[in-house]
Amino acid sequence: MFSAPQPRSRLYTRAADYRNGLVAALTGHGYDSRGTIELESALKALHPGFDAVAVPMARVGIYLVLKNLIKRGQKVILSPYTISDVVNMVLCAGGVPLFADIEVGGSCNIDAKEVERLLDTEANVGAVMVTHFYGLICNIEPILGACRARKIPVVEDAAQSFGARHAGSRAGMLADAGVFSFGLLKNVTSFFGGAILSRDTALMDHIRADLEALPVFPKSALVKKMAKGAAFDLATFPLFFELGVYWLFRQAYLHDVEFFNNKLETDSNPVAYSTFPKTYAHRISGAQSDMVRSQLDRVDRHIEERITKAKIYHAGLHDLPDLVLPPLRTDGSHSYFYYPIQCANREGLARYMTQKLRDVQISHHRNCAAMACFAEYQRDCPNASLSEKRVIYLPTYPGYREEEVQANIAAIRGFFREANSWR
Ligand SMILES: Cc1ncc(COP(=O)(O)O)c(C=O)c1O
Repeated sequence: MFSAPQPRSRLYTRAADYRNGLVAALTGHGYDSRGTIELESALKALHPGFDAVAVPMARVGIYLVLKNLIKRGQKVILSPYTISDVVNMVLCAGGVPLFADIEVGGSCNIDAKEVERLLDTEANVGAVMVTHFYGLICNIEPILGACRARKIPVVEDAAQSFGARHAGSRAGMLADAGVFSFGLLKNVTSFFGGAILSRDTALMDHIRADLEALPVFPKSALVKKMAKGAAFDLATFPLFFELGVYWLFRQAYLHDVEFFNNKLETDSNPVAYSTFPKTYAHRISGAQSDMVRSQLDRVDRHIEERITKAKIYHAGLHDLPDLVLPPLRTDGSHSYFYYPIQCANREGLARYMTQKLRDVQISHHRNCAAMACFAEYQRDCPNASLSEKRVIYLPTYPGYREEEVQANIAAIRGFFREANSWR
């Protein structure tokens, strides 16, 4: 008898998140700023010495930080391997994106040498923004050194790395400002949300003043985002997933049914914009801040669980010459939001795994430096181009069973065994 796998992703939500969110949306209870003030205090306690401001999305945080750090027309060095909205936030903040390619290999993170080269050759750089992709702290020390020598601020896009650690600190504490995402699929979620950390009191005062002028996110928007979360939660709930959803999406994938496959992609049709969208111009609601705060105490435990899965993936896959793996880090400097592997024949591998009843996801991240909408800022970034075509995420979320990890490993090994027998 065929049995379905566990799904590629599960939300980090709990039933209480829906209950509290609904109460807030329907009655207004908890919709004031009290929850946000408490969340900011909790974030400060978790990141000693740092001030914290909650925002409605990480991209809003990136915009506010850059807007207050750079002068209009200054360049912002950033990784091209990110979502197009991040690049758009640079434009909205008045910056000019200057893409620095990612490293060769499995990190998917910005190449410090390329950043240093750009700092040496380009004039009018206002900031460097580094991303800790998939939960891996980037090679930040040389970047910090080069920027400090030039008095250029460094911003951490820590959207995917809340809780990751480096040299006794956490992600978001390593540079001049750090930005987190509490978006739908993140390891801390309030359906949408984020936060900024910084030690720079003047910067944080400016950001607070900017936010004070904005209304709280409308309740209708919260309900819509919650409904999307609930639909995802239900679709991946074991009973529904195993009996119906998996088989539907599997058939759709194997038969290239665009409607379903497009549902799993972001950035399939990116556009450039330089006016900060009105739909982003809000403050986070107290109710969402409550959700985030209630999840903070499980972050470290979840990271440990994901590291355990990463160790199993590494042990089972590291000898395969045609696969590029992320670095194995057990010290918390990789929080393994996913376990991203890279394979030249990604489509072949994903199809084979699907045929073998596995559920994994082809990455939707793209090389923004090659997107037509950013043609003006186009740069040759060969490593980001390769990752765009090669990354598959293997699941690591808490609750994803070790047998599933082993079954993924067996399927991947089967793929390469069969491929090699045809050579
Ligand atoms: C690397 C990175 N930066 C920024 C963001 C934006 O986060 P948000 O959706 O909270 O604005 C994302 C979202 O997935 C991301 O992956």
